[in-house]
Amino acid sequence: MQFGFIREVALKQEKLVVGLDVGSTRVRAVVGEINSSYNGNGDAPGSIKILGVGTSSSRGIRKGVVTNIESTAASIREAVQEAEKLTGIQINAVHLGITGSHINCISSHGVIAVKEKEIGQKEIDSVIDSARAVAIPFDREILHVIPEGFTVNGQEGITDPRGMGGVRLETNVQIVSGDATSIQNMLRSCEKAGLEVIESVYQPLASADAILTEDEKELGVAMIDIGGGTTEVSCFREGSFCHSAVIAIGGNNFTNDVAIGLRISTREAEYIKKKYGCTLLTLTKDDDEVEIGYDEGSTSRKIPRRYLVEILQPRAEELFSLIKEEMAGKGLQRSLNAGVVLTGGGVLMEGMDVMVENILELPVRTGYPVNYGVDAGINGNPCYSTGVGLVLYGAEEFLPDLSHDNGHIFNGTMAKIKDWMSGKFK
Ligand SMILES: Nc1ncnc2c1ncn2[C@@H]1O[C@H](COP(=O)(O)OP(=O)(O)OP(=O)(O)O)[C@@H](O)[C@H]1O
Ligand SMILES: [Mg+2]
Repeated sequence: MQFGFIREVALKQEKLVVGLDVGSTRVRAVVGEINSSYNGNGDAPGSIKILGVGTSSSRGIRKGVVTNIESTAASIREAVQEAEKLTGIQINAVHLGITGSHINCISSHGVIAVKEKEIGQKEIDSVIDSARAVAIPFDREILHVIPEGFTVNGQEGITDPRGMGGVRLETNVQIVSGDATSIQNMLRSCEKAGLEVIESVYQPLASADAILTEDEKELGVAMIDIGGGTTEVSCFREGSFCHSAVIAIGGNNFTNDVAIGLRISTREAEYIKKKYGCTLLTLTKDDDEVEIGYDEGSTSRKIPRRYLVEILQPRAEELFSLIKEEMAGKGLQRSLNAGVVLTGGGVLMEGMDVMVENILELPVRTGYPVNYGVDAGINGNPCYSTGVGLVLYGAEEFLPDLSHDNGHIFNGTMAKIKDWMSGKFK
């Protein structure tokens, strides 16, 4: 491999973070640099600059789960090597995004009697410990234990109980866990690609850092990431993460439906879907046409665009109805005052936003990273929410002293949470 120059860096020491989003359709390695002090370019401490990204087509991954370690490792290597070439930085450690329908999120309650005069870190750790002590099957691995807030002597809604007096400390936590084998296979793929994984992060927790505002999280918001293999729906209220679920439908299902419905190859179906796809008949004109038959050996022909939409619309309705059920089951819809933020490549299809608005009866916006330095196709692109989010998530560990600054990174949901928690839970 030829590099113009290589800055030999151990990523954990330098202010560099690499987010690795191993998606079902693309692998993305995003290299970010954190400013730890004021520099000559007017960047504030804590601000993040994306130095470059490398991408590759995913192989050996289905719906977020590794089906072939060698192929996955090769895709990861390809993306990482491209990022190395572009940035001149040797990458040896990453923050890895994890998803898949094996992930689930359960809530649990913890309570302890406070023996000291005031509540300190020790009490916070032990109340989280008691909430965490639910029976998790041995074949599952806990990825995160996230407190939603604390209750002191029956007084709810306390964000940081440290320094308070009280005899009874309670907390509600969200425990995010996944199938141990699936997580291990993803880690093994990274290892085979020559990478150390600093932390495995459930993808939506990272994406939220990149695209949700503090206000939205405070008011109540649902973030829906429509990827290639899966769709994650994650809710936040009163500033905290409160639920998430992975639905095993993504953009690839739309593509397959088009391939079957129009009897064309998946490759062509993907092209047609991206170019002419729409999920609502009401958004198309009667005389709109689509030309199909690009594949070698086939004859091109024109079909009414309506045929394509009639294939896509029911799949979108199915997806958003499942999301609605998921939110209704948890009684969340009423607390989503800031509505829905859509992200992931799947949201780029015309009509998705209108359909969400209609089915979920909530206001909708599309979320994507903005203002993160050199534009390598990242800014404004919802496919990069997870990759950039992983950089921000990782960056929160670097500069704890600045954790209340207004730089990009410290709006993170997890920044606040990590601030509460001692090392053993971070
Ligand atoms: N313009 C577009 N119109 C319709 N769909 C699109 C468009 N651009 C991308 N997509 C779809 O978005 C999906 C890929 O999104 P994304 O890159 O967020 O997924 P991923 O991260 O690889 O997968 P996952 O998050 O499920 O692991 C693909 O199914 C692709 O067809
Ligand atoms: Mg994704």
